[in-house]
Amino acid sequence: MAATAVVLAAALGGGLLLIARRLWWAAGKVAGRASMEGKTVIITGANSGLGRATAAELLRQHARVIMACRDRGRAEEAARELRAQLGLCSRGGGECRGELLVRELDLASLRSVRSFCHRVLQEEPKLDVLINNAGIFQCPYTKTEDGFEMQFGVNHLGHFLLTNLLLGLLKNSAPSRIVVVSSSLYKYGEINFDDLNSELSYNKSFAYSRSKLANLLFARELARRLEGTGVTVNALHPGIVRTNLGRHIHVPLLVKPLFNLVSWAFFRSPLEGAQTSIYLASSPEVEGVSGKYFGNCKEQLLLPKATDDLVARKLWDISEVMVGLLK
Ligand SMILES: NC(=O)c1ccc[n+]([C@@H]2O[C@H](COP(=O)([O-])OP(=O)(O)OC[C@H]3O[C@@H](n4cnc5c(N)ncnc54)[C@H](OP(=O)(O)O)[C@@H]3O)[C@@H](O)[C@H]2O)c1
Ligand SMILES: *[C@@H]1O[C@H](CO)[C@@H](O)[C@H](O)[C@H]1NC(C)=O
Repeated sequence: MAATAVVLAAALGGGLLLIARRLWWAAGKVAGRASMEGKTVIITGANSGLGRATAAELLRQHARVIMACRDRGRAEEAARELRAQLGLCSRGGGECRGELLVRELDLASLRSVRSFCHRVLQEEPKLDVLINNAGIFQCPYTKTEDGFEMQFGVNHLGHFLLTNLLLGLLKNSAPSRIVVVSSSLYKYGEINFDDLNSELSYNKSFAYSRSKLANLLFARELARRLEGTGVTVNALHPGIVRTNLGRHIHVPLLVKPLFNLVSWAFFRSPLEGAQTSIYLASSPEVEGVSGKYFGNCKEQLLLPKATDDLVARKLWDISEVMVGLLK
């Protein structure tokens, strides 16, 4: 009897704590709203999770948002929902402030990255913010169209080519910003130059961490190259967020309810997780700040493996060859 009462009380107390924590997180976590009127922003992977929440908030700030997505159907559906939710008209102009466009971009195909950039360069007179947000997490071993290990190919190489091809436009639009969505899981990665395509062995957790470490080294080397241009680049980790990122993780049916409870209680919502992306894309506080790593809208320290300039430069050089920027 007494034992049951103790267990019940503990469960109830624990539950109340979780709810309190959830509500506390939900409140007061929205960054101050800057105006993005007249600014053009590209967000990769904007149809889902963090990218979608970032798009929604920047639209509220009246930006012109280009959703760069691999699946036109999913992207158009997300765009329809966002327009309805925000009361945007489908074409900008007139009374409508904020505009939403969908463009196809498959980061697992260099051909697709090139044709996306070609169209942007033809259509857009300027680009104020590029948010490299799309990502794939712990998928089974697969290769991109060009034969790269999928996580390295999409998370790093696709964005590497994308950013390089848009760099001229970003420079001409200075002051402009590049935002790189990395992850604190970079800590478990290494840039193993002898097997960047995981042909000798594949470990899906390692490959994800490696790709997120590559994002940080890329941002660092790029910031160095962009000194004095008025284009800034900063990286971030969003925390643990309830999104579709775990699609390749199999949770057994019986454990699902527990998993959902834990994720509801402890994971961030996409809008909470997107705060640092939004901050880096739009806040006047980070005007001119470059080459830094952020979490919770604050600068964070990195492990030495993510600040190694020799590795960063070597990764840059090899990436240039891999994506065909240098033959
Ligand atoms: N969620 C977290 O806890 C967490 C933690 C740390 C870092 N992150 C990072 O946050 C970023 C956003 O992830 P999320 O959590 O919002 O996950 P998500 O809901 O799965 O969104 C990922 C987006 O990337 C897109 N994408 C995947 N492969 C692509 C490709 N080949 N070409 C173009 N787009 C592609 C997806 O498109 P489809 O919808 O068509 O698949 C989707 O729009 C990722 O870079 C991830 O590494 C997330
Ligand atoms: C896979 O990589 C992760 C992260 O780097 C590591 O913790 C784990 O031990 C590795 N697993 C195997 C089987 O090597």
